[in-house]
Amino acid sequence: MIDTAHEMEELQRLGRLRTLRQIASAPGPTVVVEGKTYLMFSSNDYLGLAAHPSMIKAAAAAAAKWGVGAGASRLVSGTMLLHEELERDIAWFKQTEAALLFGCGYMANIGILSALAGPGDDIFSDELNHASIIDGCRLSRARTVVYPHCDIHALEGMLASSQGRRRIIVTDGVFSMDGDIAPVPDLLKLARRFDAVLLLDDAHATGTIGKNGKGTLEHFGIGHCPDNVMIMGTLGKALGCFGAFFAGTVSLRTYLINHARSFIFTTALPPPVVAAAREALHFLIQEPERIKRLQDNAAYLRTGLRSIGFTIDEHPTPIIPLMVGASDRAAAWAQRLFDKGLFITAIRPPAVPEGTARLRLTALATHTREHLDAALNIIKETAHGYIR
Ligand SMILES: Cc1ncc(COP(=O)(O)O)c(C=O)c1O
Repeated sequence: MIDTAHEMEELQRLGRLRTLRQIASAPGPTVVVEGKTYLMFSSNDYLGLAAHPSMIKAAAAAAAKWGVGAGASRLVSGTMLLHEELERDIAWFKQTEAALLFGCGYMANIGILSALAGPGDDIFSDELNHASIIDGCRLSRARTVVYPHCDIHALEGMLASSQGRRRIIVTDGVFSMDGDIAPVPDLLKLARRFDAVLLLDDAHATGTIGKNGKGTLEHFGIGHCPDNVMIMGTLGKALGCFGAFFAGTVSLRTYLINHARSFIFTTALPPPVVAAAREALHFLIQEPERIKRLQDNAAYLRTGLRSIGFTIDEHPTPIIPLMVGASDRAAAWAQRLFDKGLFITAIRPPAVPEGTARLRLTALATHTREHLDAALNIIKETAHGYIR
C-alpha cells in the first residue's frame, strides 16, 4: 500500500494542499462557480480568444473536415496540411525560417532540451525558469548550471568557465510567476561571445508583448530572429487554444523531428485545435488593438495596485505578482478574495521558491474598466497586513 494520507495532511497543514475548483462556464473575464459569478484574474487566456466565436467556428469547421483527432504521431500516419500551414504561419509571425508543433509547452521544452543537449554539454538556466525547462534540463542529462535570476554578470562568469561541448542558455522570455522580462539583448551578446545558443521560452510573451504581440524579441526591437536563437512558444495562453511550437532554423526543425522524443512518440495535435490556433494567429495580426487593450489593462491594474500601497514593478506584461511569503497566508488571502467574488489563485512552492508564495494576478484584454475597478476595490478591502 502506498500511504499518501500523511503527506496530504502535511501539505494541508502548510497551506500547500492543491485542490481543483470546478468552474461551470467557458474561460472569460468572469466565470461561474457553484452558480455564482466571479471576476477572473488568474487566467492565461490573455486576449480572450479561448471562447471567441471566430475560434469556435474555425475549430468546428476543422472537426467537420478533418475529424477530431490526428490519429497518430505525424511520423507514423502522415502529417496533415493543417499542421504544416500553422507551422508556416508561426515561422512568419516569429520571423524564423521554420517552426514545429508540439503537444504542449511542457512537451516542447522537455523535447527540445533533451534533444539538443546531453552528457558533456552545459545548459545555463535562469533560477526562475518554468518547471518544464527544469525538467527538460534533468531529462537531457547535460550539466545544468543555474544562474541567479537575470544576473548577466554571474552568467558571464559561469559561461567563461564552461568546458561544455555545447552551451545552451535557456530562459523564460516573460517569467511566468513574476511577470518580468529576461534581458535578452545582453543574453544574446553573451551567447555570441561564448558560442552558445539561446532558447527563449515565449509562452507568456507571445501575443502579450511587443507592438504586434510577437513576443520578447519584438519587445526589444529585434526584428528577424538571430541564427543562434531558438524560440518556443505556446498556443494555450494568449492564443487561447492548446499546444506549442519550436521556431528556428530549418535544420533544427529537421533535427527535432528526428530527436525530440516528445514530438516523435506522441499523437499530433487534434485538427480543431490546430485550426483554431491558426485563426487566433490571424486574429492577432488583424486586430492588434486587442494587444493594446491588454497592455493598457495591465498598466491600469499596476497603477491601481500602487495607489493601494503595493510596490509594483514597471514591466509591460499582464502578470503581476503580489508577494506574500508564507503559503498559508497566501492561501488565506486568496480565499478571502474568493469569498468576495474575486478569483485569484495563490501560487505556492514548488511553483515558486520557498518563502515566496504570492497571488499572481493576470490582466486580460477582455476586462472592462468596471472589472478592473471592482477587483482593485476587493483587493483594497482585504489588503491590510499584506501590503509590501
Ligand atoms: C514559461 C512557461 N513555459 C512552458 C509552459 C508550459 O506550457 P503548456 O501549458 O502549453 O504545457 C508554461 C505553462 O505554464 C510556462 O509558463
